[in-house]
Amino acid sequence: MKIVLKNLTKVFVNKKTKSEVRAVDNLDIEIPDGKLVGLLGPSGCGKSTTLFMISGLQAPTAGQIYFGDLDVTQLAPEKRGIGLVFQNYALYPHMTVEQNIKFPLTNMRVSKKEADERCLNAARLVQIDNLLDRKPNELSGGQQQRVAIARALVKNPNVLLLDEPLSNLDARLRLQTREEIKRIQRETGVTTVFVTHDQEEAMSISDFIVVMKEGVMQQVDVPQKVYDDPVNLFVAKFLGTPPINVFLGEIRDHKVYINNEPIMDTEFEDQEVYVGVRPEGFVVSDKGVLSCEIYQLEVMGRDISIISKNPASEKPTIRSIVDADVKVPASGIVKFNLKPNKVYLFNRQTEYRLGKEPLVKPEEVSETEATEATLEN
Ligand SMILES: Nc1ncnc2c1ncn2[C@@H]1O[C@H](COP(=O)(O)OP(=O)(O)O)[C@@H](O)[C@H]1O
Ligand SMILES: [Mg+2]
Repeated sequence: MKIVLKNLTKVFVNKKTKSEVRAVDNLDIEIPDGKLVGLLGPSGCGKSTTLFMISGLQAPTAGQIYFGDLDVTQLAPEKRGIGLVFQNYALYPHMTVEQNIKFPLTNMRVSKKEADERCLNAARLVQIDNLLDRKPNELSGGQQQRVAIARALVKNPNVLLLDEPLSNLDARLRLQTREEIKRIQRETGVTTVFVTHDQEEAMSISDFIVVMKEGVMQQVDVPQKVYDDPVNLFVAKFLGTPPINVFLGEIRDHKVYINNEPIMDTEFEDQEVYVGVRPEGFVVSDKGVLSCEIYQLEVMGRDISIISKNPASEKPTIRSIVDADVKVPASGIVKFNLKPNKVYLFNRQTEYRLGKEPLVKPEEVSETEATEATLEN
């Protein structure tokens, strides 16, 4: 089932102070049928609020939600055909796994035989069909989360909504469970929205990711495209480990300078910029264009992390990654050439990537003109 969010907005008003929080601000997204979409952003950026509005647990302040062609904005949660999974599993402790999974079928007209069948199918799908008689406290965290997923799937939902479902699992289980979720999503073909603050998780699991900041959508695309082609400094910084290195730079006469060293040519006009360089964008070379002072080397099997310093770096140190067979001096100055496709230029004021500034929508222009016209009268 395709999900469409149109200008979806949620404003919370603090009754005492009358202050407003725009938790979700004019969100416009189309989630294609059968895809897994990752909602990604730092804590407090409006991910859960978006998910709760899709589920119907929270009513939007403005905007619409469509499932397929149907406007479900005013529809009660239980009529939307959704499966919800939370971070904390939320299983009923006094019920067995089987009773937990079957619980959503209680008020539906489903025969006992069909309930048994559906329960077993869901349990098989998440590979816990051997645990049906256990109570939740007899299961590991990963197993409990599988029960929660089975319970969400037993109604054959149109839409599966997952809110940070892996956050309470340890690192290995998180990796394994995320592969499982991807597999289950593929097998069932259920349109899925997966909320996470973990960029690596979102990148690895999603067909598309939606990057959010302070309630506002920043970019939507396939994960690799968002990584390779970020629209602004926030997105560039949010994706990638180790994160992108940021330098204060400037453009003069179509050359980009970092710390007064010309590092590359550019088509853009003179201005102050941030220069972002991905860790894999550095090439050690005697004739390198950027000089940095080595601070520390981390040799890690496959590659070497060179930790170095440059006065123009935004952070105290720069982290670059090169192959383990590259000769790197143990101390002193290291010179780098930069791979052009790993270097990004951002406007120092707006933090938009150069060439990626949003076009002003025609209606916004006419609105301003209209206001001015009224003022003149
Ligand atoms: N019920 C609420 N009342 C007031 N403010 C809320 C409420 N729920 C969320 N918020 C605020 O809305 C913003 C977005 O919250 P949330 O959607 O939970 O973020 P996320 O899930 O991305 O961490 C935050 O500033 C949060 O404090
Ligand atoms: Mg949340």
